Amino acid sequence: MSTLTIKRPDDWHLHLRDGAMMDGVLPHSAAHFARAIIMPNLVPPVVTGDQAAAYRDRILKALPDGMTFDPLMTLYLTENTNPADVAAAHASGLVKAVKLYPAGATTNSASGVQDFDAVRPVLEKMAEIGLPLCVHGEVTAPEIDIFDREAAFIDLVLDPIRQSTPGLRVVMEHITTSNAVAYAEDQDDTLGATITVQHLMLDRNDMLVGGIRPHYYCLPILKRGSHRLELLRAATSGAPRFFLGTDSAPHATHTKENACGCAGCFTAPIALSCLAQTFDEAHALDNLEAFVSQNGPAFYGLPENTDTITLTKGDPITIPDHIDTDAGPVTVFDPGRPVFWSVQ
Ligand code: DOR
Ligand code: ZN
Repeated sequence: MSTLTIKRPDDWHLHLRDGAMMDGVLPHSAAHFARAIIMPNLVPPVVTGDQAAAYRDRILKALPDGMTFDPLMTLYLTENTNPADVAAAHASGLVKAVKLYPAGATTNSASGVQDFDAVRPVLEKMAEIGLPLCVHGEVTAPEIDIFDREAAFIDLVLDPIRQSTPGLRVVMEHITTSNAVAYAEDQDDTLGATITVQHLMLDRNDMLVGGIRPHYYCLPILKRGSHRLELLRAATSGAPRFFLGTDSAPHATHTKENACGCAGCFTAPIALSCLAQTFDEAHALDNLEAFVSQNGPAFYGLPENTDTITLTKGDPITIPDHIDTDAGPVTVFDPGRPVFWSVQ
């Protein structure tokens, strides 16, 4: 097959940032994706419905003329989040999910949750109204090894939350381990899981063997190759539980090429090319549309997009080294092997 036409994809986990960085990166998502779940980890975080509405307005204002894009807003869950504010923001149609960051887990997560009992009233309200909880699933206890943090979170936090909040819809975001795949496959359809491009294409050897590659550093961190194979199996299976969340997370290049580099891969411009390549190599192109365009809307109870995109297989594409933004250059993710698929 050398061309593939599929319903227009959505990105169920995206960092757009704000200001000059947002101006620079937004067109790269809007070029391919119709909608995206927008992460609220700004400084300060997007905590209230009013803040989410203002952020949505800034995104739409930054959208270049002639482009369409529907930002699906989220609220950043804190121990002070008011269940009534969450319910009102959901009822108005503005907010499509609430984001749980364990305090200290990743970029701009200082306001996240330490005491999970403190957010119980919000979670119960969300279960009642059917509003999904998007979860950064890593424990932060210093004694837990960084490569074990996702598996520990499932046992110590995620499963207890789900057991004690029946009906709560949860998205396990950017899953990185066979433990997460196995857990997701074992649950009912209140559970979904997103997977990124980099976790499908790379493992920790790609990041660390022969030199440290800061542009492959993200959180949750890349795991060993056996985990990647399970993620690949899940993503390419077509199973409705699994869908694309790129977690495209731009940082100015100098902040990643640094003695203490930031976490995040900027994949938005080449995410679909990379996924077509990955699904092609797995002989699973037939299931690409489910992963990028169908399973996500089904989980969120939203219609699939009606227009289409066409992917073409040809000569290896040229991946730009970086994009320029007024917040500095941002290095574009490069999987380090030829990608033969382009988006028309
Ligand atoms: O690698 C990451 N970057 N993981 C996250 O969870 C946050 C993100 C960011 O905001 O830069
Ligand atoms: Zn993220």
